[in-house]
Amino acid sequence: MSELMTPGNANFLGKVFGGAILALLDKVAYVTASRFAGKICVTASFDRVDFHSPIEVGELVHMVGSVDFAGRTSVQTRIEVYAENIHEGTTRHTNSCIVTMVAIDDDGKPTPIPQLIAETREEKIRFLQGRARKEWAKTHVTDSLELLGKLESMDDAELDRLMQSDLRP
Ligand SMILES: CC(C)(COP(=O)(O)OP(=O)(O)OC[C@H]1O[C@@H](n2cnc3c(N)ncnc32)[C@H](O)[C@@H]1OP(=O)(O)O)[C@@H](O)C(=O)NCCC(=O)NCCS
Repeated sequence: MSELMTPGNANFLGKVFGGAILALLDKVAYVTASRFAGKICVTASFDRVDFHSPIEVGELVHMVGSVDFAGRTSVQTRIEVYAENIHEGTTRHTNSCIVTMVAIDDDGKPTPIPQLIAETREEKIRFLQGRARKEWAKTHVTDSLELLGKLESMDDAELDRLMQSDLRP
């Protein structure tokens, strides 16, 4: 998907507002996942999104979506973002993003999707990376809840002491 960055997309510095890019990423993730699943999909999560270089108003943004990994009902989409300076004829890669979408049935419940068949070496590596990311996300949630439980059980003096150190409780 390509879109021209108009002044309506500008932030206070005159560059493109990050949220404008996030909205486009969400649309591309929807098309990518829904095309693969053959079903309506909803956004479950955005992986980390880093903006490596600002996108200028007047540039043409290109987003290329593909599927890294598919679980039983979820699709991990990868979106590569490029900014084209249409006057200079130059294009630069500005970021990559992973968005997990979940296929939904008529009752709004997650519904099974086709199996992803990884054929090339690159596809196999991306599949395995995607599967690992899914596992890491689960561990991250468990670890975060465990940390929250520990922090909430501490008194203020312990919290202050901990803030002076780099160590986890
Ligand atoms: C995403 C959603 C459908 C998941 O529903 P759920 O009942 O929690 O689903 P389940 O626990 O059965 O998980 C279903 C799949 O979603 C995945 N999933 C659920 N929550 C997830 C999350 N936060 N991040 C990534 N994947 C997630 C699960 O890993 C599972 O994948 P799999 O079937 O491929 O193994 C539900 O949380 C939802 O409707 N969220 C709101 C979506 C939305 O409105 N998005 C737009 C925001 S404006």
